[in-house]
Amino acid sequence: MANQVQRSELDTNCMTLSRFILMEQKKHPHATGELSQLLAGIQTAIKCIANAVRKAGIAALYGMAGDVNVQGEEVKKLDVLSNDLFINMLRSSYTTCLLVSEENKTVIEVEKDHQGKYVVCFDPLDGSSNIDCLVSIGSIFAIYRKNTDNEPSVDDALQPGRSLVAAGYALYGSATMMVLSTGNGVNGFMLDPSIGEFVLTDPNMRVKDKGKIYSLNEGYANLWDPAVAEYVQGKKAKKAGARYIGSMVADVHRTLKYGGIFMYPATADAPKGKLRLLYECNPMAFVMEQAGGKAINGKIPILDIKPTEIHQRVPIFLGSAGDVTEIEELYKKHNL
Ligand code: AHG
Ligand code: MN
Ligand code: MN
Repeated sequence: MANQVQRSELDTNCMTLSRFILMEQKKHPHATGELSQLLAGIQTAIKCIANAVRKAGIAALYGMAGDVNVQGEEVKKLDVLSNDLFINMLRSSYTTCLLVSEENKTVIEVEKDHQGKYVVCFDPLDGSSNIDCLVSIGSIFAIYRKNTDNEPSVDDALQPGRSLVAAGYALYGSATMMVLSTGNGVNGFMLDPSIGEFVLTDPNMRVKDKGKIYSLNEGYANLWDPAVAEYVQGKKAKKAGARYIGSMVADVHRTLKYGGIFMYPATADAPKGKLRLLYECNPMAFVMEQAGGKAINGKIPILDIKPTEIHQRVPIFLGSAGDVTEIEELYKKHNL
């Protein structure tokens, strides 16, 4: 398979994620190491979440935690644990000043003596409805530099995706994988449980220009706009493959690996779609663009949207550039 690193059992010189990050840091002679430190914190949070996911049944982590999050959804125990891990590891990395989590209504300001220059937006556990049936779930993160000298405030988190410094996700699937871009392509690292390290397995990931798979929740077909309806009709006419896991991370990762398109469009009863700009759409759009793909809201690139609220939702179409351009054309044709 293209760009897949073949590893032998005893790799005495393996490229771990930590090593890769240090290597990237060295390419920037003026780098302070703060981003590397931040990514080390995220890596720890992800390893702990992966471990919790793997033993969730035994440790009785399934089921509801009895709370409802800011989106009005029931919060699962793993959601709570994952959120605590992200917050604690980011705070204690001394590299962040402001955090935005799907699970917290307002921004979290890091205490003064722990502050650094980065702002991190994250979805600590994505695909929570899939937890109890053992289907893949993930974590998503987006990293910005604080761009003012003022006290940290919500405005620092409302930067367009274009200003991202780094973004990525972890997929807790049949294996645990971390996919990262620091704005210089996309690299994938698989967790090797025998050494507890993420190891480079998918260097320089690129998405195909065109794919054969389309992915969206077809249960909402009666609520689609005419552009989406026509697009999906066209896919069926061509006997394209349909895949929908219902965990954004898993659906996006498949799209990155196999090509095609993932969509969460607006519907008649959810005119902005469901997925959140800051910690779901922007980081995934950044990764997809960095891999040579495309991500739009129907009209403009996701990364060009200027956020107005931390939990705002946007419709999203992302994946192979050729496929995303087709739906973009249909939006123009229908004047939407
Ligand atoms: P979360 O678990 O963080 O709330 O996100 C769930 C999201 C996303 O992962 C997925 O793409 C989407 O919800 C599925 O929604 P539908 O059930 O409406 O298809
Ligand atoms: Mn999510
Ligand atoms: Mn979530």
